[in-house]
Amino acid sequence: MLLEVRDLHVEFTTREGVAKAVNGVGYSVDEGETLAVLGESGSGKSVTAQAVMGILDVPPGRIAGGEILFRGEDLLKMKEEDRRRIRGADMAMIFQDALSSLNPVLSVGAQLGEMYEVHRGMSRKDARARAVELMDRVKIPAAKERVGDYPHQFSGGMRQRIMIAMAMALEPSLIIADEPTTALDVTVQAQVMDLLAELQREMNTGLILITHDLGVVADVADKIAVMYAGRIVEAAPVHEIYRAPAHPYTRGLLDSIPRLDQKGQELYAIKGLPPNLLAIPPGCAFHPRCPMARDLCRSQVPPLYEVTGSPVPRASACHFWKECLHA
Ligand SMILES: Nc1ncnc2c1ncn2[C@@H]1O[C@H](COP(=O)(O)OP(=O)(O)OP(=O)(O)O)[C@@H](O)[C@H]1O
Ligand code: SF4
Ligand SMILES: [Mg+2]
Repeated sequence: MLLEVRDLHVEFTTREGVAKAVNGVGYSVDEGETLAVLGESGSGKSVTAQAVMGILDVPPGRIAGGEILFRGEDLLKMKEEDRRRIRGADMAMIFQDALSSLNPVLSVGAQLGEMYEVHRGMSRKDARARAVELMDRVKIPAAKERVGDYPHQFSGGMRQRIMIAMAMALEPSLIIADEPTTALDVTVQAQVMDLLAELQREMNTGLILITHDLGVVADVADKIAVMYAGRIVEAAPVHEIYRAPAHPYTRGLLDSIPRLDQKGQELYAIKGLPPNLLAIPPGCAFHPRCPMARDLCRSQVPPLYEVTGSPVPRASACHFWKECLHA
């Protein structure tokens, strides 16, 4: 397995108390595989990714437990220099906001080239030539003419392509894309997503795609992990989740996707608000919002149950997953 996160716990010390942002998350992704991580704002998607990438804000953040295995080795137990080597060349991250991730005072060619100069020891001239190739590869028109341009001279979609080029430059085996297209308009979103998926397949990269848009994952992801209040509440291959969700929260997310064949119908929205991480509800954290909740849900935290009878491995953290599955 390329990456395996096991029972990860992350907390933040704030003035109001300790916010438990990640409460025992486990997921894995293999080479050439795409895992989509889904969930509402504040569910811990980015914090988990930051822990994997080693860019967690410490303090106030703290990894309170768990393992992050990269090719079987725990990054959290590794020597700092080994960790840095892996994270520099073998893992990369793509963020939502390219403008704040790129250096505004360096041309994109210089930034792309720098990757090759620093990590591959190339001369400036060769590195610049590689930068043009990369820009071509992510389909930036007139790459040769534009290699000296600065980030602000590109459109949002083109900047996101440059971010993808930066991430892919050293051909890492793992890429985490955190809402890579959220800031773009819908048509550009699809183009950027297609490009990312195309390169991922070409290079056999393991991809973790963080999004709160279930609509975009259907075409690109192999499997989905749904997060709620810092936990995985459902994990399954993507087609299985679409066919029949085994958790009421996932069902709610699916029911709130706009569908082309149901124009004009009112969209379902999950009622209530995401939980306060300083005071996560007892039992199932979703119970105050769950249409299926009953007494057991208020007192007992559901473990991640194996969904039995499924031809492929899948899991749900709902006491009543069977009912949900057959609803
Ligand atoms: N630097 C920080 N300081 C304090 N608390 C933080 C910090 N970063 C994250 N948190 C806490 O962790 C929670 C989870 O944050 P995270 O960014 O992982 O959410 P997310 O699932 O990525 O949401 P979104 O969809 O909005 O990006 C936040 O609600 C917040 O309470
Ligand atoms: S455990 Fe209970 S409250 Fe939680 S999702 Fe299942 S039915 Fe709803
Ligand atoms: Mg986030």
